[in-house]
Amino acid sequence: MTSLLILNGPNLNLLGTREPEIYGAVTLEEIEATCVAYGETKSVSITFLQSNHEGVLVDNIHAATGTHAGIILNAGAFTHTSIALHDAIVGTQIPTIELHLSNIHKREEFRHHSYIARAAVGVICGFGAAGYNLAINAMVGHLESNN
Ligand code: DQA
Repeated sequence: MTSLLILNGPNLNLLGTREPEIYGAVTLEEIEATCVAYGETKSVSITFLQSNHEGVLVDNIHAATGTHAGIILNAGAFTHTSIALHDAIVGTQIPTIELHLSNIHKREEFRHHSYIARAAVGVICGFGAAGYNLAINAMVGHLESNN
C-alpha cells in the first residue's frame, strides 16, 4: 500500500487552544484521526508526526526515503526560516506538498516567503484542517499521474 508521511512542525501540537481564531478549534490528534480515516478511503497508509525541532523534521524527511512515497509538510514557522528543510526535500527527491492551515499570504509580511515552496510539488493553504485531506487527495493524484 502506498504510504504518505504527514509532518507537522513547531507549535502545531498546540492546535485546539492556539489562536483558534486563526487555526481553528480542532486538535492535532483529531486532524490525525481524520487523515488516517481519509487515507483508508484512498487506499494509502498515513504516518503522522509532529516535532518542535527542525533537526528532527530533517531526520524524518531523510528517513522517509524508501518508506513513504510522498510527504505532506506543515513546517509551521520553519517554513519561513529553514533552508535545511528545503535542502532535505531537494536532497531526498521525495515529492512534497507544502501545507498550512491559515492563508499565509493574507497574514504578516514575514509569513509571505516560504523556503519550502521552491522544493514542493505544490502548496495548499487557507483551508484550515480541511487542507490536510485536500493535500492527501492532491498527493494521491500527483503520484498516480507520475507512475
Ligand atoms: C502555519 C503558518 C505559519 O506561518 C505558522 O508559523 C504556523 C502555522 C499554518 O498552518 O497556518 O505555525 O504553518
